[in-house]
Amino acid sequence: MAAGGTATPEDAPDRTRLVVLVSGTGTNLGALLEAAQDPAWGADVVGVVSDQAAAGALGRARAAGVPTDVVPLDAHADRSAWDQALTQAVLAHEPDLVVLAGFMRLVGPAFLARLGGRVVNTHPALSPSFPGVRAPADALAYGVRVTGATVLLVDEGVDTGAVVAQTAVPVLDDDDVASLHERIKAVERPMLVDVVGRMARHGWSTSPTNPRKVLLP
Ligand code: GRF
Repeated sequence: MAAGGTATPEDAPDRTRLVVLVSGTGTNLGALLEAAQDPAWGADVVGVVSDQAAAGALGRARAAGVPTDVVPLDAHADRSAWDQALTQAVLAHEPDLVVLAGFMRLVGPAFLARLGGRVVNTHPALSPSFPGVRAPADALAYGVRVTGATVLLVDEGVDTGAVVAQTAVPVLDDDDVASLHERIKAVERPMLVDVVGRMARHGWSTSPTNPRKVLLP
């Protein structure tokens, strides 16, 4: 697949190389790893990179035989040095597409300069509502009756990139943060698998009249 979001089906005789960034338990990574077992899905997870050495997601990657790297923020002099180290760790796997799947840090300018346009994030809210790392809690506190999950292209903002796909989830009267987040994750995983597979197989583009509108063939 061509880099930069302009791939076409005829570009894709080879399987798309995915690098997945994680910080947590990695159920979204697990769904991607499972999908990649089907040759028809069109992509392979060729590397997993985390900012957290203890992330459960790393165990899932190792069990699947996928190379892992850990790039902790506090092991670097400053955020810029970390940004550059993270960028190099990801580039080493020669990705076509990068997936932030529960990666709980903002990527920086160096990362976006080299990889921007081919990075997607999954966020547990209906963007642009509730950006940031507390989205299910914020939705609950606000009192909305519907929230959900969003796959978006990553830009320099906090969950501000162009929306690729969304799924709505009702907020129930007896929800707490954990129950709401689990129901969101139950729709988030298949949506991420579907979207990443379609991007891998067919590429994507943005509307010529509205760069915030992502078109999946
Ligand atoms: C997901 O809901 C993701 O959107 C959010 O953190 C959660 C990660 O879950 N940023 P997991 O680690 O993939 O299980």
